[in-house]
Amino acid sequence: MASTRVCLWFLFMIITQVVGEDIQSMIMSLTINSKFQCANTTYLPFINIITSNIRNCQLACLTQSQCRAATFHRSTSNCELFDNILNQNGNMLTDVDATSMDVISGARFLSEWTTTGNMNVARYIHTVSTLANGLVLVTGGYNLSAYLNSAELYNPSTGTWTTTGNMSVVRAHHTASTLVNGSVVTAGGTSSGRYLNSTELYHPSTGAWTITGSMNVARKDHTASTLANGSVLVVAGQSNGSVYLNSAELYNPSTGTWTITGNMSIVRYRHTASTLENGLVLVTGGYNNVTDYLNSPELYNPSTGTWTTTVNMNIARDYHTASILANGKVLVTGGSNSGGALNDAELYESI
Ligand SMILES: *[C@@H]1O[C@H](CO)[C@@H](O)[C@H](O)[C@H]1NC(C)=O
Ligand SMILES: *[C@@H]1O[C@H](CO)[C@@H](O)[C@H](O)[C@H]1NC(C)=O
Ligand SMILES: *[C@@H]1O[C@H](CO)[C@@H](O)[C@H](O)[C@H]1NC(C)=O
Ligand SMILES: *[C@@H]1O[C@H](CO)[C@@H](O)[C@H](O)[C@H]1NC(C)=O
Ligand SMILES: *[C@@H]1O[C@H](CO)[C@@H](O)[C@H](O)[C@H]1NC(C)=O
Ligand SMILES: *[C@@H]1O[C@H](CO)[C@@H](O)[C@H](O)[C@H]1NC(C)=O
Ligand SMILES: *[C@@H]1O[C@H](CO)[C@@H](O)[C@H](O)[C@H]1NC(C)=O
Ligand SMILES: *[C@@H]1O[C@H](CO)[C@@H](O)[C@H](O)[C@H]1NC(C)=O
Ligand SMILES: *[C@@H]1O[C@H](CO)[C@@H](O)[C@H](O)[C@H]1NC(C)=O
Repeated sequence: MASTRVCLWFLFMIITQVVGEDIQSMIMSLTINSKFQCANTTYLPFINIITSNIRNCQLACLTQSQCRAATFHRSTSNCELFDNILNQNGNMLTDVDATSMDVISGARFLSEWTTTGNMNVARYIHTVSTLANGLVLVTGGYNLSAYLNSAELYNPSTGTWTTTGNMSVVRAHHTASTLVNGSVVTAGGTSSGRYLNSTELYHPSTGAWTITGSMNVARKDHTASTLANGSVLVVAGQSNGSVYLNSAELYNPSTGTWTITGNMSIVRYRHTASTLENGLVLVTGGYNNVTDYLNSPELYNPSTGTWTTTVNMNIARDYHTASILANGKVLVTGGSNSGGALNDAELYESI
C-alpha cells in the first residue's frame, strides 16, 4: 500500500473535563483527514470504542492515562486510542473519514486532588522522604505546642499511615536524606530554642532509629543534598544566637561521620540546593543578616570540595523552591523577599 505523506494541518485545542471537583485537561493537536499508519502490531490501538463525536473521543483519551493519541472515524463513530504513537510526521495516511489527535508531549495536566488517609500526628516544618520500597517516611516537625520526634510511613497502595519508630531527638527545621543503601539520615534542626548537631539513621527493615555521627556545627534551615558518590552534603543554615552559617559538611555513610568541607562565600539560610547532572551542587537564594534576601548562587564541586560563584538570579528570594527538570534545567519558583510573596519563576542552565 502506498503511503501518502499528508500536508499536516494542526489545530491545537485544550480538552478539559470536570468530574465533581476534579478538573482534567490536556492539549491535543488535531490532524484532519488522516489516520496513523499502523504498519505493525505495536501500533494497534489499545482500545476501540464507539463515541458520538470527536469531542467524546478526545474525552475518552483524556480519561485513559496511557493514551497518547486518538483517531476518530466519522462514518463508523469508531474512536481508536493509542498508547504508543511516535512523532506523527511521516507516519500518517490520508483518510478523509478520519481525524487524528496527538496529546502534545507533557501537556496532560490532571489537576486532581483527592483526600487520602490522615497522618496520625498533625505537624509542619517536618521532612518527607520516599523510600526504596515505595513507602513515604515523614519525620519530626512542630504542632504549635510541641516539637515532635515521631515518624510515620505512608503506604501509597492503601492510602494509609502507620507510625514507625520515634527518633531519639525531637526536631523541626531539620533535613532528611535517603542514602544509597536505603536508610534515611535526619540531620540537625531545632527544638525549643536548642539548635541541634545530632543526626539519626532510620532503618526501613526494622523501623528503628540509631544515632549516628554529630555534625560539627549545630544548624537549622540548612539543606542536605545526596552526592553522586553517596555522601550527603549539608550546607549553611542558622545556629544559636542568630548566627548565620556559610559552613558545609559531608556525611560519609560508610563511616557514619561528618567532615567539614569548603565554606561558601556568603552566610545564608532558607536557601535551596540542587544536585546537577554534572555532579555540582547549586545553592540559590536564601537570607542573611548582611544583605537580607539573596540572589547570589554558589556551586559546590565535590571533587575539589570548594565553592564558586555563578551568575545571579534575577530576583533575590528566600523560602523558594528549586527543582531539576527532565531537561536538566533548574526551575526556581516563588519564595519571598522585601516585596512580599513572589509569583515569578526562573530557569538555571549550566552552559
Ligand atoms: C513497529 O514500528 C515501530 C515504529 O516504526 C518500531 O519502533 C517497532 O520496532 C516496530 N515493531 C516491529 C515488531 O516491527
Ligand atoms: C502536639 O504534640 C504533642 C506531643 O506529641 C501532643 O502531646 C499534643 O497533644 C499535640 N498537640 C496538638 C495540638 O496536636
Ligand atoms: C513514640 O513516643 C510516644 C510518646 O512521645 C509514645 O506514645 C509512642 O508509643 C512512641 N512510639 C513508638 C513507635 O515507639
Ligand atoms: C553537639 O552538641 C552538643 C550539645 O548539644 C555538644 O555537647 C557536643 O560537643 C556537640 N558535638 C560536636 C561534634 O560538636
Ligand atoms: C544560645 O544563644 C544565647 C544568646 O545568644 C545564649 O544565651 C544561650 O546560652 C545559647 N544557647 C546554647 C544552647 O548555646
Ligand atoms: C552576620 O552574621 C554573621 C554570622 O552570624 C556575623 O559574623 C556577622 O558579623 C553578622 N553581620 C552583621 C552585619 O550583623
Ligand atoms: C546503611 O548504612 C548505614 C551505615 O552508614 C548502616 O548503619 C545502615 O544499617 C545501612 N542500612 C541498610 C538498610 O543496610
Ligand atoms: C570556614 O570559615 C570559618 C569562619 O567562619 C573558619 O573558622 C573555617 O576555618 C573555615 N573553613 C574552611 C574549610 O575554610
Ligand atoms: C565523596 O566525595 C567526597 C569529596 O571528594 C569525599 O570527601 C567523600 O569521602 C566521598 N564519599 C564517599 C562515600 O566515598
